[in-house]
Amino acid sequence: MKQNLPTTPGPIGVFDSGYGGLTILSKIREALPQYDYIYLGDNARAPYGTRSFEIVYLFTLQAVTKLFEMGCHLVILACNTASAKALRSIQMNDLPTLDPTRRVLGVIRPTVECIGNITRNGHVGILATAGTIKSESYPLEIRKLYPDISVSGVACPLWVSLVENNEATGPGADYFVRKYIDQLLTLDPLTDTVILGCTHYPLLLPKIQQYMPAHIRTVAQGGLVAESLKDYLHRHPEMDARCTRQGTCRYYTTEATEKFSESASTFLNQKIDVQHITLE
Ligand code: DGL
Repeated sequence: MKQNLPTTPGPIGVFDSGYGGLTILSKIREALPQYDYIYLGDNARAPYGTRSFEIVYLFTLQAVTKLFEMGCHLVILACNTASAKALRSIQMNDLPTLDPTRRVLGVIRPTVECIGNITRNGHVGILATAGTIKSESYPLEIRKLYPDISVSGVACPLWVSLVENNEATGPGADYFVRKYIDQLLTLDPLTDTVILGCTHYPLLLPKIQQYMPAHIRTVAQGGLVAESLKDYLHRHPEMDARCTRQGTCRYYTTEATEKFSESASTFLNQKIDVQHITLE
């Protein structure tokens, strides 16, 4: 076990490469307001979506270790790219030596679990970062649970930038929103359900809904992840007992704090206090 990890109960850690995980955090806090949370955004090294497997794994492991050192017993990887590229290795290789009683959960599995009840014809599309699409995590996870569902995926490399640069609702976004939706529907014209497999995409929903044919169901993951966490804590009273409950949330970023506070307000619709942190 790693030396000096606090053993007393602590907050739930929520990690993302940057701001996007705030869309997941806000749904988690809506569903489970009584718990304490630490949000950690690795903004200085975002985006992760274009980075290699090795780098995403290394950065994610550093963040998870930091959150454990800060007292978290349970960490949610609120980042699809980190969930796709790092979660399995951390669970299998690192947790046993860091501390086998701590847990790290991702966002892909909870999203995928619900898909069988949402699609009517078994044709599911994934819109995500290049890294998540390349990892094949969504099709692999879906096939494990629902072998008959056919899955197609398209990387949307410009969408994160549109959101990060506050252009999600601007006229310039239309071209790229339409482009990737059209690509997906060309791959499989029978698609009836589309998963937004990236934390940033819920902020593009007004434009996505404009260009997505009305019969297609668009699935954002925040609510699904929140419900799954609620269920997890219910099924694991030993972990639930190690999560403190005062309804607080502390925010940390690896970038400049002013920049984080300003951009975070786009995601949360409120001003927040944030502290700087270094990951290594
Ligand atoms: N948080 C990432 C995800 O959900 C998107 C941003 C990034 O590429 O770092 O995949």
